[in-house]
Amino acid sequence: MAAQIIDGKAIAKEIRKALAEKIKVLLEQGKPRPGLAVVLVGDDPASNLYVNMKKKACKEVGIYSEEHRLPGTIRQNELLGLIDNLNSDAKIHGILVQLPLPKSLDEQEIINRIDPAKDVDGFHPINVGKLCIGEKAFIPCTPAGIMHMIDTIEYNPSGKKAVVIGRSNIVGKPMAQLLLQRNATVTLCHSKTKDLAAECRQADILVAAVGKPEMVKADWIKPGAVVIDVGINKVGTKTLGDVAFEQAKNAAGWITPVPGGVGPMTIAMLLNSTVNACESVFY
Ligand code: GUN
Repeated sequence: MAAQIIDGKAIAKEIRKALAEKIKVLLEQGKPRPGLAVVLVGDDPASNLYVNMKKKACKEVGIYSEEHRLPGTIRQNELLGLIDNLNSDAKIHGILVQLPLPKSLDEQEIINRIDPAKDVDGFHPINVGKLCIGEKAFIPCTPAGIMHMIDTIEYNPSGKKAVVIGRSNIVGKPMAQLLLQRNATVTLCHSKTKDLAAECRQADILVAAVGKPEMVKADWIKPGAVVIDVGINKVGTKTLGDVAFEQAKNAAGWITPVPGGVGPMTIAMLLNSTVNACESVFY
């Protein structure tokens, strides 16, 4: 039987609608308008596209946003100075530094400088640590969006076997933590994993976040599994996921498409975190 498609675009639209209404109420109550600063260094086309999408989404729900586009030659100290200014700017509640940064910059030092209370990406060590010990905190937007999708299809991860492919700080590691928090038995796979296909075949929930077009084949998928595809791979004019969707949809129980799956959810979660930051939900 063909898998049910998890329509991230539609779920994200609902979230944006609810956020727009929430922001309207907050403003009527005399509360400040949530504000997001997006910092983009260099001219990576994919990062440029994501930043534009984030800006458009902010506008649509009523979040103030400002962009700081900086040359790839910017010095570490200048960028740290900008973060300091944004940390103390009252109209800015969330700060997002689009990653990856050029190799000439120390990415972790930049992230560490963001006020944890404005770290809507959940990349600051304080928020990472809080996630690990199960305290409320900003959670990286992509894994947060994936958990929201899993909840939307009313799939309970408790006692299930989850396999996450990819151990990045942005997706793989926080994804594993979130699934663990929900009582899944989690395996985190990576480039040195011995028999990746065999690991994947055990998975009731399979999250692919590797950046290799159509790497996950139908025969890697346990029949009926929830398959979440984080990949956005440009191949010629096409955008392909990490999962070979056309064949995988005949094996999976649920599957996310690319585009229109995880991507829109990531942006919706960023908006949600910005509103939470404005309301000081965690700090
Ligand atoms: N690069 C790829 N994904 C993300 C993300 O979620 N946040 C930031 N800041 N950079 C990214």
